[in-house]
Amino acid sequence: MSDTVTLTDNTTGRSVELPIQRGSEGPGAIDISTLYRETGLFTYDPGFVATASCHSAITYIDGEAGILRYRGYPIEQLAEHCTFMEVAHLLICGELPGVEKLAEFQSTIHKHMMVNESLTKFFQGFRYDSHPMAMMAGVVASLSAFYHDTLDIENLEHRAEAAQRMIAKVATIAAASYKRNIGEPFMYPQNNLHYCDNLLHMMFATPCGPYESDPVAVRALNILFILHADHEQNASTSTVRLAASSGANPYACIAAGVTSLWGPAHGGANEAVLKQLDEIGCRENIPKFIARAKDKDDPFRLMGFGHRVYKNYDPRATIIRQVAHEVLENYQGKDRRMFDLALELEEIALKDEYFVERKLYPNVDFYSGMIYHALGIPRNMLTVMFAVARTAGWVSHWMEMMCDPVKRIGRPRQVYDGAVKRDFVPMDQR
Ligand code: CMC
Repeated sequence: MSDTVTLTDNTTGRSVELPIQRGSEGPGAIDISTLYRETGLFTYDPGFVATASCHSAITYIDGEAGILRYRGYPIEQLAEHCTFMEVAHLLICGELPGVEKLAEFQSTIHKHMMVNESLTKFFQGFRYDSHPMAMMAGVVASLSAFYHDTLDIENLEHRAEAAQRMIAKVATIAAASYKRNIGEPFMYPQNNLHYCDNLLHMMFATPCGPYESDPVAVRALNILFILHADHEQNASTSTVRLAASSGANPYACIAAGVTSLWGPAHGGANEAVLKQLDEIGCRENIPKFIARAKDKDDPFRLMGFGHRVYKNYDPRATIIRQVAHEVLENYQGKDRRMFDLALELEEIALKDEYFVERKLYPNVDFYSGMIYHALGIPRNMLTVMFAVARTAGWVSHWMEMMCDPVKRIGRPRQVYDGAVKRDFVPMDQR
């Protein structure tokens, strides 16, 4: 039996046989690229619920089983044993690096962390209280103004250099956005520090005295960054790919990804979770908020709950919940109270029929904000941290797409609902 699907238009009786494309695991996909030519029909799938936009060998998710793997490796093993730099190498190059390869990769990234001094001046143009994600989007896009001599996207060396530069410089830009907000001088990156340590240094050190980051904070950041590094064709990664499909330069594409990530349904959820827990305030108020989440006439949603792909506990949330326990163990303050409230909210929601029926579980953003906050990272920086980590995934997808032989400009079609043809009416007759 051939691996095909036959579709019949019941209005015209016309049939078309379409091939099925199978990957190494997971669902296959009906290849509909000839459908319009053969039948004059498009497919309609708002939000791309059942549409594969590309072939990819980077990340595998089984949403029903709660499985996430980068390049075949289970996320749990990577989070336990690797550094963020090892995972970034894995995502981009396809393999975990050995000692020498890792040293070479890290050293290249470290050397690229410093940004052109003119770029740091851009921050003075932003109001002191600008949202750091707004600064990120603008300044990341402006990187293309500095590297126009290495922007040939057909050149393999230029591509690799752009990818390394982006992973390196987003951390420096993120830290500078924070420093701009609090009015402190920018700190230069230190080549001897590892990536996450370097980011904490650029955020929290000052020229007035020595700074040494807490190893617990560095370890937590490493794990969070590994978990946030990639998630196949999510909204921001698809945005990067769509922008790249026109041949736009990689810095512009990553800036597009940053803006897409910002929304509360995506990476902005970590900031929204903390705001919501503040509003809930105490255990007694939880039922009121659960009732609002279930009310179809109320747009309110429980932030940090639900996922397009996971219909099971998000495997990243399982790991993050454990890290939150470790980080917040010795805390007695507001962050600890918030974590306890989150645990109670989770427990109540997971027993509620509405959430059970719809398979709504905590996602990666439910606990991540609490950890970042406990590490001293303010709320408006939470999505920025996500963006820094996800840059490794974005550039990996950009590199993969550049090598894809079936790369075409992304150009969805539509079902037109507007006015049918009508004749122009002169102004004095309208
Ligand atoms: N609270 C209450 N109801 C919900 C929620 C929620 N958080 N999420 C989904 N539902 C309901 C929704 O109303 C719908 O109900 P019904 O079938 O009765 O109409 C059903 O569950 C299916 O939801 P959907 O909106 O069709 O699902 P989706 O796949 O389009 O949306 C989502 C996925 C993540 C945008 C959504 O679950 C949501 O808005 N969650 C809250 C925001 C959030 O935490 N986002 C972070 C996502 S993970 C990290 C990332 O992607 O960056």
